[in-house]
Amino acid sequence: MGQGKHVREDRRCLRSRRSRLVAVALVLVALLAIVIPPAVVLTLHNNSTMGPKASVFVPLYVYPAPGAWEPLEKVVSAHRNVNFTVVINPGSGPGPNALPDANYTREIPKLASYGNVRLLGYVATTYAQRNISLVRRDIETYAAWPTNGSNPDLAVRGIFFDETPQQYDDSTLAYLQELTALVKTTSGLGPDHFVVHNPGVIPDSRYLPTADSTVVFEATYDTFLERQGARLFENIPNSTRSQLCAVLHSVPDSVDGHQFRDLVKQMRKVADEIFITHLSTDYYASFGGQWQEFVDLMAKS
Ligand SMILES: *[C@@H]1O[C@H](CO)[C@@H](O)[C@H](O)[C@H]1NC(C)=O
Ligand SMILES: *[C@@H]1O[C@H](CO)[C@@H](O)[C@H](O)[C@H]1NC(C)=O
Ligand SMILES: *[C@@H]1O[C@H](CO)[C@@H](O)[C@H](O)[C@H]1NC(C)=O
Ligand SMILES: *[C@@H]1O[C@H](CO)[C@@H](O)[C@H](O)[C@H]1NC(C)=O
Ligand SMILES: *[C@@H]1O[C@H](CO)[C@@H](O)[C@H](O)[C@H]1NC(C)=O
Repeated sequence: MGQGKHVREDRRCLRSRRSRLVAVALVLVALLAIVIPPAVVLTLHNNSTMGPKASVFVPLYVYPAPGAWEPLEKVVSAHRNVNFTVVINPGSGPGPNALPDANYTREIPKLASYGNVRLLGYVATTYAQRNISLVRRDIETYAAWPTNGSNPDLAVRGIFFDETPQQYDDSTLAYLQELTALVKTTSGLGPDHFVVHNPGVIPDSRYLPTADSTVVFEATYDTFLERQGARLFENIPNSTRSQLCAVLHSVPDSVDGHQFRDLVKQMRKVADEIFITHLSTDYYASFGGQWQEFVDLMAKS
């Protein structure tokens, strides 16, 4: 019996200790809520959840009128810890002359001088139907810019091959392999000698090892949703994240704030080079209203 009394007293004691602890905890929670601004809590949350870093991929089909490339230079210099892969395209390729016009020869060296920028020259392949001699000439023209322009910064560090094929064919693979070998061995395209293919869709996986990176998605946000979103990338045979590039355009303006952040996070998980824009017409010819926000989200760790 005596034992029973002791037990009851202990319980009472525990109960009152517990209610004192609860009261102290409640006061602490109330104090923290006042002391820590909600923005700090949000930042801590964001920092811990953006996943692997990826490069910003920029199809820079913007004519370099004075000041036109400033929105790019601004984010490049503000985010030295973010890498940018930038495709330049003076005239559906390097253009007909040994050097592009004076606006290009003024602006390209400025961009090229940033350590976190890798410039690529645009070259058309027309699904491997284009005369390979003409493709070779385009590559050699880019490679000769630094010497022909007497400026080591008037240079690209690799080639973006547009419209590469999706369906497998032995002769097509040989065509692409020959071009990759040329980029890898041509001085004037260093130090990266980087090769990007753009089938715009998932190609036959036998093509993937021929390029350093392949654009496996180039389409609207709606198409992205229809095709299972980022899950599409996880099913590409024998691919790794480091080989994949994705270009999403026509993102609805309603995809903003947390939704935009979640989209960038999803893409960073599956692709190493990413471009996302809300523009729905001429989406590579200017910088959209959410350009800076996109790069900020790419910079978050
Ligand atoms: C450079 O761009 C400006 C603005 O578009 C244009 O007026 C000018 O003719 C261009 N210069 C050359 C050499 O093409
Ligand atoms: C950026 O590129 C440099 C040089 O290629 C590389 O060493 C670095 O790891 C890259 N940074 C990120 C965040 O990918
Ligand atoms: C470099 O410039 C010279 C002189 O204009 C020209 O003959 C040559 O074809 C150019 N090289 C390339 C690869 O465009
Ligand atoms: C490809 O272009 C080269 C050089 O212009 C030319 O000699 C050759 O006949 C062309 N080949 C074909 C199949 O058109
Ligand atoms: C994936 O790679 C393995 C080993 O290299 C190869 O045997 C297989 O055919 C590849 N699968 C596809 C779908 O390319």
